[in-house]
Amino acid sequence: MKNEYIPVRSKIKEVIKHTNLEYTFRMEFDGDVKPGQFFEVSLPKFGEAPISVSGIGEGLVDFTIRRVGKVTNEVFENYVGDSLLIRGPYGNGFDIDNFKGKEIVIIGGGTGVSPMRGVIQYFASNPDEAVSTTLIAGFKSPDDVLFKADFEEWEKSINVIKTVDNAPEGYTGPVGMVTKYVPDLKFKDKANAVFICVGPPIMIKFTIMEIQKLGIEDQQIWTSYERKMCCGLGKCGHCKMGDKYVCLDGPVFNYTEAKELFD
Ligand SMILES: Cc1cc2nc3c(=O)[nH]c(=O)nc-3n(C[C@H](O)[C@H](O)[C@H](O)COP(=O)(O)OP(=O)(O)OC[C@H]3O[C@@H](n4cnc5c(N)ncnc54)[C@H](O)[C@@H]3O)c2cc1C
Ligand code: FES
Repeated sequence: MKNEYIPVRSKIKEVIKHTNLEYTFRMEFDGDVKPGQFFEVSLPKFGEAPISVSGIGEGLVDFTIRRVGKVTNEVFENYVGDSLLIRGPYGNGFDIDNFKGKEIVIIGGGTGVSPMRGVIQYFASNPDEAVSTTLIAGFKSPDDVLFKADFEEWEKSINVIKTVDNAPEGYTGPVGMVTKYVPDLKFKDKANAVFICVGPPIMIKFTIMEIQKLGIEDQQIWTSYERKMCCGLGKCGHCKMGDKYVCLDGPVFNYTEAKELFD
């Protein structure tokens, strides 16, 4: 019988450096995977970290990792150019069909853009499959912007507002939190709008408050929840909130469910 906890070794094919703290690791992987799903990435003796899929390609997946502690430090220090242990994909991920034919607004903060990148790529490559697609992405400063090359591509086919909290003198792009840009959104038919919002919990909270002020209903809003996890398989109970296992039932939730889960 297959032991679900045993990871497989995956070669790092490429490392894309976005900032000093955030790199994308392009990994070998054969199998079905959806944007918004995650893998447990591990190193012997250092532990495991759940990491979202930020890109999907032929025989590969991307992980965009922020260096914050034990596992992620080790990955950055010693494993660039080598291999990592991975198991997954886990979780439900985003269902692209929920967004087709809609007026889509995708709002991301920092690494929160990662799990939504596959959805953004899909509608940037197939703009006719939505009535409109708008991306509002917020980063701390111009130096903290992730996926710079992607933004240049996305701007060609969808509406993009790439904003920074703090800008140096002379900066000409949008400045301010993502919430600043929500009240100005215009829709042909508000009932056909759909929002996806992912980022730090505080950003999600205030962004959803702004979205609701537009008269958008809870069922029109989707989010992804980075609850601390352990097994990723619905066995250990670490991620359990109410009657939900975030690793199994999520991490993507419609806001009708997510609003009951936020701490
Ligand atoms: C479903 C899911 C998807 C994720 N996707 C990504 C991703 O795509 N890229 C990415 O960089 N990170 C992602 N994370 C967060 C990532 O798992 C943690 O940053 C990582 O586990 C930290 O491991 P570490 O050993 O390096 O740090 P540790 O030494 O364990 O911790 C360092 C610091 O990070 C905090 N921390 C640890 N885990 C989390 C967490 N889950 N949420 C918030 N704070 C945490 C700790 O409290 C501590 O302050 C995701 C988490 C979940 C649950
Ligand atoms: S992480 Fe173990 S049950 Fe979800």
